[in-house]
Amino acid sequence: MHQFEINGGARLAGKLKVDGSKNAALPLMAASLLADYTLTLQNVPELSDIDKMVRLLGELGVTCTDESGAMELFVKDPTLCHARYDVVSTMRGSICVLGPMLARRGKARVSMPGGCAFGHRPIDLHLRGLEQLGARIRLENGDIVAEADRLKGATIFLGGPFGSTVTGTANIMSAAVLAEGTTVIESAACEPEIVDLANMLNAMGARIEGAGSPRLVIDGVEELKGTTHSVMPDRIVAGTWAIAAAATNGEIVLERFPWDSLLAALDVMDQVGIRVERLDGGPCCSEATVRVTSDRRLKPAVLTTQPHPGFPTDLQAQFMSLLCLADGNSVITEKIYPERFMHVAELTRMGAQFTRQGPTVVIQGVPGLVGAQVMACDLRASACLVIAGLVAKGRTVVTRVYHLDRGYVQMEKQLAALGADIQRTDDKTGEVIWSSSMATEAPSIEIIAQPDPAKTFVQGDA
Ligand code: EPU
Repeated sequence: MHQFEINGGARLAGKLKVDGSKNAALPLMAASLLADYTLTLQNVPELSDIDKMVRLLGELGVTCTDESGAMELFVKDPTLCHARYDVVSTMRGSICVLGPMLARRGKARVSMPGGCAFGHRPIDLHLRGLEQLGARIRLENGDIVAEADRLKGATIFLGGPFGSTVTGTANIMSAAVLAEGTTVIESAACEPEIVDLANMLNAMGARIEGAGSPRLVIDGVEELKGTTHSVMPDRIVAGTWAIAAAATNGEIVLERFPWDSLLAALDVMDQVGIRVERLDGGPCCSEATVRVTSDRRLKPAVLTTQPHPGFPTDLQAQFMSLLCLADGNSVITEKIYPERFMHVAELTRMGAQFTRQGPTVVIQGVPGLVGAQVMACDLRASACLVIAGLVAKGRTVVTRVYHLDRGYVQMEKQLAALGADIQRTDDKTGEVIWSSSMATEAPSIEIIAQPDPAKTFVQGDA
């Protein structure tokens, strides 16, 4: 397995373009099942989760080809309806094929997703919503089997104990576009990825109103056409780069920064002493160009994760590594996944100090972190450990970086282009697979400023 070896202490400086969003791209790709026409997606990030979705769709009769930088998806065989355990068990986002496949083919067999590193992640709301649209659903040998002649519009409440469901909303909305009559989804997820999906479905001929609000009204249509759509930039990747820059007291410019989608995180950044300044001055806030700088000493913060437009759970871990270095005590409460704290124990190995009570963690700011070998067991926890490694004194080894490859495009190369001292190695043989000393290979990444050695590095000085 691959691991990252990081020598901490470099201040990040340079410019990056934010890649397309993984969590937007997965349901957009699944929507190809809804039409008999070619769907063209631009800005699809090159990630292992996207490769898995390509494989899954291939097994469901969809050909996915790469045409001059864009992905073209076309249904070749609509008779294949089984999303097998092999793929689904490695990627929960696979559940996004359920609604579209059922709506278009009248039948879907999808392996029930299993547990997850950060706790129980049920799909009861997805299944109840589809049943309300008229689907007959049963469990057979670990597979969800859903059948329907033609779905019928209904009023569906999608709220659960932890808020709405993002992929559940994507599934029900995608199914309802081909249902007979009108569907109202109440307590729909308001996440920007849902807006991106609704925009694309409408461009394909669907009639969806209210995307981005908790009430969606969908008038079913007979069929959908193809379209060309650009995947929105990844708000979590954008936030991760901003936090990494601030943690190292660096200065970076980010293009395609999804400003509108990150207002809650920007508010906490402001409280902590991170300045995110718009450079483009244009009216478009969905893809801004920003400069990120930070105060030399960070202030503590109190934050609670919530469904959008609240603070995103997918940035909780990254913020935690930053707050380890703040001047005082911070409090993080996790309201979406109360068990999503695996990074706490690993950060402790690097000198961080925490007190956890249930879904709340108190972080006592320390003068610096120290390098250590740490292991991540989910995507965002891995990102948090990389940020900690960038600021820690000495060498940090983050094992199992396949988690990062699910959600960050060549993370080591992007960080190296900003000045990080990082390499990807094989944990068994020690072979260097890529090192920042080879950084000229990094594509489309422009260095705009070298770190200024005259500025002393405050955060991370142990
Ligand atoms: N929930 C239920 N019943 C359901 C579905 C969800 O009770 O039927 C609960 C969950 O247990 C959780 C909450 O509702 O407590 C929210 O879960 P949600 O369904 O919204 O999560 P998801 O759609 O499975 C997506 C992202 C996650 C992100 C969450 C929350 C994708 C592929 N995944 O998951 O992204 O954390 O929304 O914003 O879009 C990641 O990228 O690292 C990641 C985990």
